[in-house]
Amino acid sequence: MNRNLVLIGFMGSGKTTVGLRLAAATGRVFMDTDGLIEEYEGKTVQEIFAEKGEDCFREAEVFAAKKASSAINAVIATGGGMVKMPEAMAALKKTGTVIYLEARPRDILLRTSGDRSRPLLLGADRHSRVTALLKERLPLYEKYADIKIVTSGKTLAAVLGETLEAIEIFEKGAEKR
Ligand code: S3P
Repeated sequence: MNRNLVLIGFMGSGKTTVGLRLAAATGRVFMDTDGLIEEYEGKTVQEIFAEKGEDCFREAEVFAAKKASSAINAVIATGGGMVKMPEAMAALKKTGTVIYLEARPRDILLRTSGDRSRPLLLGADRHSRVTALLKERLPLYEKYADIKIVTSGKTLAAVLGETLEAIEIFEKGAEKR
C-alpha cells in the first residue's frame, strides 16, 4: 500500500519532528502544508496572518491540503488548525491514513514557549489561548484520527516505534475491510 501518512495535532505536538523520522523510516517523501503555503505565497505564515488575515490563511490551507493529498507515498505534516476545514480533511483522508499526535497541554505550552513563529500564540495570556483552542479542536482531532498516538512523557524513538506499529496494524485491518 502506498497511502500517504497524514499527521494532525495541536501546535507543538511534534508533527514535523515525528513526520521527518516517519518519512525516513517508511521511505516516503516528507511534505508540510505550512511549507507548501509559504512557498506558494512567497511569504511566511506570520506575514500571511499579519497582511491577509487568518481567513485567507485557512483558504490557502485548504488549497495546500488538496495539493498534498494528490502526492503518492508521502508523509504530510499539517498545521494545527487544519481540522477546522472539513473540505481539507476530506481530501487528506481520501488518500491518506490520518495519525493524531496527542500532547498534554503542559507540554504544548512548554514546547511553544518563546516561539515567535506561531501567530495564534503571540500576545498575552498564552495559557488561556491554548486552553480555548484545545477545547475547540480536541473533538476534531479525535474525529478525524485513524490512529492516535499519545506523545507526552515518551522519547522520539518510542513515539516513532509506536506509530510504525500502529500503522502496520491499521493497514492490515484496512486490507481486510
Ligand atoms: C496553526 C498552526 C501552525 C500554523 C499556523 C496556524 C493553528 O502550524 O499552521 O500558525 O491554527 O494551530 P503548526 O501546528 O505546525 O505549528
